Amino acid sequence: MIFANWKLNPQTKEEAVKMACFSDYENVVICPPFVYIEAVRDIIKRAKLGAQNCYHQKSGAYTGEVSAEMLKGLGCEYVILGHSERREYFSESSSFVNSKIKIVLEKELTPVVCVGEKQKENAIGQIEEQVKETLQSVPLEKVIIAYEPVFAIGTGDFCPMDLAGERRELIEGILKESCNGSPLKIIYGGSVNSSNASLYIKEAGFGGVLVGGASLIEDEFTKLVKSII
Ligand code: PGA
Repeated sequence: MIFANWKLNPQTKEEAVKMACFSDYENVVICPPFVYIEAVRDIIKRAKLGAQNCYHQKSGAYTGEVSAEMLKGLGCEYVILGHSERREYFSESSSFVNSKIKIVLEKELTPVVCVGEKQKENAIGQIEEQVKETLQSVPLEKVIIAYEPVFAIGTGDFCPMDLAGERRELIEGILKESCNGSPLKIIYGGSVNSSNASLYIKEAGFGGVLVGGASLIEDEFTKLVKSII
């Protein structure tokens, strides 16, 4: 699975439609800004649709927010939650992300839950705390976990394969007792490009990748997708 997280891009619907065309592969999930979801949905034939966020309440007086039900109505199957940019710029705590996961699951959408250390120091402690709090009482077979170390996001400083593999095993260890034997779905994100994407799957043992910057560039994204399928 390849998630294309467009973040706050592009600036026009026309560009969004062009990007949807070059991203339209079976194992791709396109996550556009909310305002382009419908236009992208009407163009794609093979790719699936995801959103980058949603609110933890079903409806009511919450100016500027979008509910899981609205996203489902537009054809979304996935919702990215707890991205480090939301944790950082919008002060989202792990327990807040946990409440979003529950409402997304109630609507039978798949949450793509991001976790990852903020600093390189004491990374293991940070990951442990975040994973436990974020995924508390969550049916793990229904979620996708995205391991995204903050140092690797948007920097080009991607996580080396051996370290990424260790982190995947760490997360599996933390959740071992709560997953009742069902296999966890863990993907990697952070400066994924066409040269390293397949290594995260073949060498580091991840089930897919979450791609930011490289998903915006036609040549690069096409190469990336073809390196995996
Ligand atoms: P990046 O972003 O690929 O640009 O590092 C990844 C992400 O934030 O999910």
